[in-house]
Amino acid sequence: MESVVVGIGIGTMNHEYKATSTITIKGILSLLMESVGENNNNKDDNESKRVISLGMGDPTLSTFFPNTKVTEEAVADSLHSGKFHGYAPTAGLLQARNAIAKYLSNDLPYELSSDDVFITCGCTQAIDVSVALLARPGANILLPRPGFPIYELSAAFRQVEVRHYDLLPERGWEVDLDSIEALADQNTVALVIINPGNPCGNVYTYHHLEKIAKTAKRLGTIVIADEVYGHLAFGDNPFVPMGVFGSIVPVLTLGSLSKRWIVPGWRLGWFVTSDPSGTFRKPKVVERIKKYFDLLGGPATFIQAAVPRIITQTEEVFFRKTIDNLRHTADICCQEIEDIPCISSPCKPQGSMAMMVELNLSLLEDISDDIDFCFKLAKEESVIILPGTAVGLKDWIRITFAADPSALREALGLCLLLKMVAFFLPHYTTKED
Ligand SMILES: Cc1ncc(COP(=O)(O)O)c(C=O)c1O
Repeated sequence: MESVVVGIGIGTMNHEYKATSTITIKGILSLLMESVGENNNNKDDNESKRVISLGMGDPTLSTFFPNTKVTEEAVADSLHSGKFHGYAPTAGLLQARNAIAKYLSNDLPYELSSDDVFITCGCTQAIDVSVALLARPGANILLPRPGFPIYELSAAFRQVEVRHYDLLPERGWEVDLDSIEALADQNTVALVIINPGNPCGNVYTYHHLEKIAKTAKRLGTIVIADEVYGHLAFGDNPFVPMGVFGSIVPVLTLGSLSKRWIVPGWRLGWFVTSDPSGTFRKPKVVERIKKYFDLLGGPATFIQAAVPRIITQTEEVFFRKTIDNLRHTADICCQEIEDIPCISSPCKPQGSMAMMVELNLSLLEDISDDIDFCFKLAKEESVIILPGTAVGLKDWIRITFAADPSALREALGLCLLLKMVAFFLPHYTTKED
């Protein structure tokens, strides 16, 4: 009897260990914050430095990225109406599902219906729902590297094997389609793409997305399109939703209000079947999705009730301003990076709120890798930047540019060029000499 219990225990615990050992962005950032804290605790108030964080993708931490009054009024009115204190249907309030279906259909060659839309707690829950629904013994999922570690975490809890394909820095972080062909097999349940991309700032062309769709079709797998940064594109390539290719391959579109409306704390997201050929409309599939949603509590009902107004009444000028601001802060990053010898970026970001930057370790002494770099930066200079290891790329760093221009300049320019002289530039000059 005891051996049976132990056997079950070991099997379960292995998976628990796998999940708990998965790196998360929040986990690493909180360790970095602790190391700032340790250093500042040893100083008096005059000496302790202002902490600058370019680590979190939360635009509300910066006054440069305000939200719009329309969204706040919509939520306040919905709350004060007193009509939305009760439970919402588990798939979400019908008016919110309708509004999201209409919003997404604007960019598609077909119409989505409310039946295609399920409301989730942010895009995070939409990710977890997707992985949970696709999980089955032996299943594997193809994830981008670098990527967004919530996918790995969710897969570890669901016992889904992760296979990474590479994004190609020299090609604007496009998907390495050849590597996908080599990775996939009959147990591959989905290919995940993130567009516009975190952590790379990529925005894929129509042509590249079409190739991804055709590759997935050939491999007999669906595409999960993480479009949490949908429409946040400020470079040459316009944002094209993956759902445009829904008639080539079934697509699950994941998104939220978090980034485009700058309200990540409202936890309003969506899981959408962008699939005009009806693969997800088979009665058994629909039942499975619906049953799974019966397990979940969605976002607060009054937030859901505000969605139609938020979507239809937000002015274009607000969206344009956010895009202009992101372009501006991304440009600042790129300019500052050009002046810093030990880091370089392979291409300019075209969208989202983050970019990847490569460390040149040969110009750095006493820095062993990206993690060491970020911990020293936090400890010595009170600047928080995410090590690339957290998103799957060692000896790179991820910079979030949804930040105040002055904070960006200070963190990148002053810190790396002047304050970090102590541990960078002397070695740089000696080595060059
Ligand atoms: C690629 C990606 N997907 C999903 C999420 C989660 O979005 P939400 O805050 O709506 O849960 C994020 C958040 O930063 C993200 O970067």
